Amino acid sequence: DAGGLVDRFGRVHRDLRISLTDRCNLRCTYCMPAEGVPWIAKQSILTTDELERIARVAAGLGIVEVRLTGGEPLLRPDVVDVVARMAAIEGPTGPLEVSMTTNAIRLDRVAAELAEAGLARVNISIDTLRAERFAELTRRDRLEDVLTGIEAARAAGFAPIKFNAVAMRGVNDDELVDLVRFAQGYDAEMRFIEQMPLDAGHVWSRVEMVTGEEILEALSEAFRLTPLGERGSAPAERWLVDDGPTSVGVIASVTAPFCGACDRVRITADGQFRNCLFAREESDLLALLRGGADDERLAEVMRVSIAGKRAGHGIDEPGFLQPGRPMSAIGG
Ligand code: GTP
Ligand code: 5AD
Ligand code: SF4
Repeated sequence: DAGGLVDRFGRVHRDLRISLTDRCNLRCTYCMPAEGVPWIAKQSILTTDELERIARVAAGLGIVEVRLTGGEPLLRPDVVDVVARMAAIEGPTGPLEVSMTTNAIRLDRVAAELAEAGLARVNISIDTLRAERFAELTRRDRLEDVLTGIEAARAAGFAPIKFNAVAMRGVNDDELVDLVRFAQGYDAEMRFIEQMPLDAGHVWSRVEMVTGEEILEALSEAFRLTPLGERGSAPAERWLVDDGPTSVGVIASVTAPFCGACDRVRITADGQFRNCLFAREESDLLALLRGGADDERLAEVMRVSIAGKRAGHGIDEPGFLQPGRPMSAIGG
């Protein structure tokens, strides 16, 4: 597809990750400082019409899937309308598939409406099941709200539900087995994530990181794990837990990067197009949109950005630079 989003390594981009807001109702220590970060100014947040236009142009370039992220995407007041509009866009293979990555707080209020609007799936972040630990880690005492949100996700029929936990040494690395058991209660997939250098405080350390290998070792002591085959462009390597249906995934972005098969592009809440989570440059679609650019110009800027995409994140290379913004501002 010569007109699509193909980079110089032949990677074809089909997955658009859209950050709906940089704000969040939690303050996870590995993501944000207690006081938060300087928020994006309200007038710089893409309007829903602008989001729709970007997604439509991207669909014309081969995007088939849209992932809504944040910050916390449910904090966007018109999130249901965003989902409905995205799900109505025709992609190359039918309507865009729309999914969301959320902390599940407020999901009890909107899960049914989101499902009705066309949201296909949700991935829910849950790093611990212990209330005190949750309050320490997220600096908010809201585990109950998360659990209520998870129940709402089940009631709304989202399937499969995937849970995400960032594995952290001395924080939740004694809870991996408990988290898998929790996921078994929802026939869900439990995924463990290697922490990446994306924190606002720049305190990430390679030696402190819990590796995918360590995660697997801990899980194999409690469960029989059967490999679930090739991961394709998906970030997680997956295993069936005992006789299923629950599975576990390990997202080893640092020790086993999936960059070689990457099919992702991103748009930040303030309209900056990024060819990688770790990209050093952004393309300013917001300015183009508000300056009256036509669809062909927007498409051209996306293509040029993808043409300049680097082979990988380079976390292990000398001279690695953490992105200028934290993950909350780039999109999870
Ligand atoms: P599924 O399609 O449901 O498998 O989604 P996903 O796993 O791509 O999405 P999710 O938003 O749940 O992301 C899970 C984790 O994958 C994130 O917390 C990140 O740690 C990691 N991740 C997501 N996108 C990227 C990326 O572009 N690069 C890298 N290196 N890691 C990513
Ligand atoms: N490394 C890996 N995953 C991270 N997340 C947030 N910060 C990091 C990081 N530094 C995860 C969240 C959530 C998803 C959106 O991204 O825990 O599951
Ligand atoms: Fe793709 Fe960049 Fe993420 Fe690697 S780090 S998977 S290249 S977005």
